[in-house]
Parts: sequence; structure tokens; C-alpha cells
Amino acid sequence: MNLAECSSGKAPCTGYELLASGDGQRLERWGGVTVLRPESEALWSWRDRDILTQAQGCYSGNHATGGHWSWRTPLPEPCLVKRGDLTFLIKQTQSKHLGLFPEQAPNWDWITDRIRSCETPENPPKILNLFGYTGAATLAAAASGSSVTHVDSARAMVSWCSENARLSGLDDKPIRYLVEDCLTFLQRELRRGNLYDGIIMDPPTFGRGKNGKIWKLSEHLPYLLDTAQELLSDQPVLLLLNTYGDAINSFGGGIPETVIKKRFERIGGCCEVVGLKLEGSLDGRILPCGMSYRWSL
Ligand SMILES: C[S@@+](CC[C@H](N)C(=O)[O-])C[C@H]1O[C@@H](n2cnc3c(N)ncnc32)[C@H](O)[C@@H]1O
Repeated sequence: MNLAECSSGKAPCTGYELLASGDGQRLERWGGVTVLRPESEALWSWRDRDILTQAQGCYSGNHATGGHWSWRTPLPEPCLVKRGDLTFLIKQTQSKHLGLFPEQAPNWDWITDRIRSCETPENPPKILNLFGYTGAATLAAAASGSSVTHVDSARAMVSWCSENARLSGLDDKPIRYLVEDCLTFLQRELRRGNLYDGIIMDPPTFGRGKNGKIWKLSEHLPYLLDTAQELLSDQPVLLLLNTYGDAINSFGGGIPETVIKKRFERIGGCCEVVGLKLEGSLDGRILPCGMSYRWSL
């Protein structure tokens, strides 16, 4: 296992490293295997193109319309990335992703800190993780003592999250796994009057909910933000919204920070806007990886 460090966050990720980026791609090491994949934020040219010969796995083709993986050296089985006590299973998917967004490590730290800061062990905070994917944020919240409702429309992702929980020794924690369309789920929770002490949202630009329901960030984000606020309890702890570079562009000119902040004005608290990034260990370049809006409540 490669023990390289993930450059973001307080602690290293073992088994993951960004090596370099350029010409719309990123070169990384996952579990000791060097992987080349598309990266829309890498707008510059490679500092040294020769390093591309190191690639042992490559995703080619159009990410949006479908591409494919090819491997000279396959990922180890299992391929595991660790961060602190959390363990994540890494594997090829139909998209360019491998099941983890290591650049979000600072958000996992923030979630951990927020939850640990509420001194109510007898009444642990209830956290809702929407668009939960393979569950990195869910596990960070569960490991810090909260109960978590993990919602994702893809059954495979929800199973992957429960596998990550098992690998992390968290399978006995109160995690509720739901294969559900996030908007449908929110409407139902509103009707039922179920409230949460913290909400985490990591919506993609475009997605498919259960039963083929379309999720379009540019269309549905305002509704998501408004509904999420209504589901906050009267003793909220946190609210986190993550957006990706392409998501911001999908608004044609960007989602101005002020618009998002304004939308959440009435929840109060303190909002911190954090640019996620990774630093290439070979080229020293800083790769921007999206924006996170964190409300400490
Ligand atoms: C960008 S990923 C989230 C990354 C994740 N939060 C992390 O850091 O590991 C987007 C996830 O949203 C899910 N998704 C897309 N549309 C959805 C919808 N309408 N309802 C629920 N989940 C959806 C996808 O299945 C995918 O797992």
C-alpha cells in the first residue's frame, strides 16, 4: 500500500496522492497504482508530459456521455484508502470516479469537530447526508457520535457506504441507509415533521434519482436549499453544502456566494466558504476542487 499523503486536511490519507495535473487531466496514485483521469479544473498545460508514461490505469472518452477504463496494472483487490480510523474501498466505476473524493477530507474534519463540540452525549445529533455517495461524510459523522441518515438514489452507492462502514469498524453505529431520490425524501420528511440537527449536501451537477427522476443542479438547487433549512431542528449543529467547479459553471456565470448566503440568512450562525484543493506532489500545482459552504450553528 502506498503511504503517500493527501495534501488537504489535518491528517494524511494513506493510499492516495495527487501527483500532477494538466491539459484537463489529473494523474494520481491510488493504492500504489498510477491513474490518469479527466479533470475539468486543470486548465494549464502539464509541467512535464513525460510523467504521463507512468499511468497504469486510464479513463478515456467523454465523462458526461460515457468513457471507459483501461488498465496496464489493475488496482489491488481490495484497494483501500485510509484516513484516521476511516477506511474506504476504492474501485473502478462506470464514471471517471473511483469511489472517494479525497479533496473533501477537510470537510470530514470539520464535520467531526462540529459534532464533537456539542456536549450532549446522551442526546447525539441527528445528521442527514443527502447525495451521500459512498459515505465518507456519513462515516465521519457516525464516528464522531451522531446518528446519520444516508440518502442516495443509487443502490450500489448505498451498499458501498455500508461496506465502508464495515471496513471502518462502524457497522454497529446508528446509520440509516436509504435508496431514495433526495427531493422526494425531503418532501416526505417535511410532511412527517422529521427534523435534523445537521444537514450535509453534496449534489452533482446532473443526476438521476430513483425511478429515473432527473436532478439538475441549476434547476433544483434553490428548492433543495429552502427545504433543507425547514428540516433543521431548533438546536442545529451544522449545515454543509459542497459544489463542484462544473456545477458552478452550470449556472452560466456562477452561483454567487452572496446568493447562497442570502438563501440561508434566516438560519443564522457563522458561514465559512472554503475552496477545496489538492497539491500535486510532482508538479507542486494547486488543483481547485470545488467550494464548500459551512455553517456552524
Ligand atoms: C458527487 S456524488 C457525492 C459525493 C459524496 N458526497 C462524497 O464526498 O463522497 C453525487 C451522488 O449523488 C447521487 N444522486 C444523484 N442524483 C440524485 C438524486 N436525485 N437523489 C439522490 N441521490 C442522487 C449519485 O448517485 C451520487 O452518489
